[in-house]
Amino acid sequence: MCGIVGYLGPLEAAPVLLSELRCLEYRGYDSAGVAVIEDGQLVVMKSAGKLSNLETLLTKTKPAAKVGIGHTRWATHGVPNDQNAHPHMDNTGNIAVVHNGIIENHEDLRNELEAAGYHFNSDTDTEVVAHLVSQEYAKDKDILKSILRAVKRLDGIYALGIVCQAHPDKIYAVNHHYSLSVGLGKHENFLASDSMAVRQYTNQILKLEMSEVAEITADGVRLFDFEGTEVHRKAATMDGSPYVIDKAGFKHFLLKEIHEQPHVLRRTLGKYLSHSGRLTLDASHNGDVPSYGFRMTDTEIKGIDRVHIVACGTAYHAGMVGKYLIEELVGIPCDVEIASEIRGRKLLVNESTLTVAVSQSGETADTIAALQEAKKRGSFTAGITNRPDSHLGQITPNLIVSECGLEVSVAATKTYVAQLVCFYLLAIHLAEVRNAITPERARQLKVTLGTIPALQEQILAKEQDIREASLKYADAHDVVFIGRGLNYPTALEGALKLKELSYIHASGYAAGELKHGPIAVLDASVPVVCIVVPGAVYEKTLSNAQEARARAAKMIAVAVEGDEQVAKMFDTVLSIPAVDEFFSPLLTVLPLQLMSYSVADYLGKDVDQPRNLAKSVTVE
Ligand code: F6R
Repeated sequence: MCGIVGYLGPLEAAPVLLSELRCLEYRGYDSAGVAVIEDGQLVVMKSAGKLSNLETLLTKTKPAAKVGIGHTRWATHGVPNDQNAHPHMDNTGNIAVVHNGIIENHEDLRNELEAAGYHFNSDTDTEVVAHLVSQEYAKDKDILKSILRAVKRLDGIYALGIVCQAHPDKIYAVNHHYSLSVGLGKHENFLASDSMAVRQYTNQILKLEMSEVAEITADGVRLFDFEGTEVHRKAATMDGSPYVIDKAGFKHFLLKEIHEQPHVLRRTLGKYLSHSGRLTLDASHNGDVPSYGFRMTDTEIKGIDRVHIVACGTAYHAGMVGKYLIEELVGIPCDVEIASEIRGRKLLVNESTLTVAVSQSGETADTIAALQEAKKRGSFTAGITNRPDSHLGQITPNLIVSECGLEVSVAATKTYVAQLVCFYLLAIHLAEVRNAITPERARQLKVTLGTIPALQEQILAKEQDIREASLKYADAHDVVFIGRGLNYPTALEGALKLKELSYIHASGYAAGELKHGPIAVLDASVPVVCIVVPGAVYEKTLSNAQEARARAAKMIAVAVEGDEQVAKMFDTVLSIPAVDEFFSPLLTVLPLQLMSYSVADYLGKDVDQPRNLAKSVTVE
């Protein structure tokens, strides 16, 4: 949430900052701004709304500057307007600050600074940092020491970018709990909250660690801890090619990413499953050279008696499916918890628990905090992500990385299905090592997993039919999603996708829970989407659907092709190919993603960047 960038070197800073910000717009799009030093003068340009507004401003003003910092905002303190947009300046116009995170003691600091005569121009917590650094700078004119003294006064978790007019050859970066990467070029250096943003210029990356300050010039970087002691660390070389951000002919990134899912599954399965059916979760054994892998030994795996999954949002829904899979195959208890709900509570994990954090971005503050807390309590830890270079990738020795590539659209689609497949692989791996399933069952599971991408392609080929069927319900104000067992999380995910993309209110329920209260909201104006796939809970789910139908609700099913019982009972059927119930979450979510996309697109919503959201939720 909020993205920080910086540049110093021979190029014009503004276009470089803009291109870095473009890669970070997923972190927030309430406003954007830059601070550059032009002819020795610190100039701030900022604008509420999307990055394109700042781009228009910079195209008009064309600042001639070789150094600058920039920011894209997801509002926390203060409404999203020009005034609250970053960068924020001190009263002397000497210092500009961009910020990601929250300064928890900002009110006390603000009162103190106002009493000392400092004038505030915004409602943000960030502005206190500009004034604090300025106050310190007035004492000895040493900018590094001033920053170090100022950060000692800040509570909370944050990252900062700072420029000072009196030191036009330097930018400063401060990291306290967050990700900040310096990209090292030739006589030029880059700064960004996400290494992906500097990867377009260089593959030499120096990541700031917890409580570090970087002093960056065009020719080098010096790192200091918060005590001012210099820290020496070498840059790492980033593997692979820079991410290409391209819609590949699709109208939206979201639609492109929905269509990528079969490919993502094939790549992820191909990475961890050999042709002979051997499953190796430690990716470094597979010939490539990643520095990550799932490294728990067989003895350690045999020693665990519980799995605890922590995640937020869509990743939490993937975790819910993970619980079903692990309990079914491994036969040990598995809990799944919303990571933010762990705060302020006693986390009951220990040396025989495996805690698994699931996160697309690998940066979600609550998820990271939950995993760190589990680690403190002696639990084994693991992560599931598509970003091995993320914070999550750094704090656990056991990482399962899905082959998703970057997800540009703010709403998660391909990363959800990729997280699911990682859970299938993890559950099979744990079950095999613990001899909880027979080799034949393990073989069958792997073979069936391999058939899923082709089944997904059959669903995607019906995009147009799904669109037409979905648009019949585009005028709804409230939609209810129900499912049981493995498809209860699908119902939650379907409801979340519809809400966030189309802004139509939607709720997901365990189908059996409907009669315990939610059924009261049903009438002819509330469509009910029911996920009903042959298997252990098929009949019971149909009964719950009947109960909804009896309240005059319009009934939509996600069901297997040719299901006559379903065809009789439902007004609309979004069909999927026949599939074993155990694997059905990998398919049932696809028509729901397409449904949400179609409705949102039809209603003219901002599909790739829905209002109020950010893709990387780095505040708690
Ligand atoms: C919904 C969505 C969010 C994320 C949640 C966790 O489409 O994307 O609910 O799933 O913010 O984010 P990560 O997976 O990055 O931890």
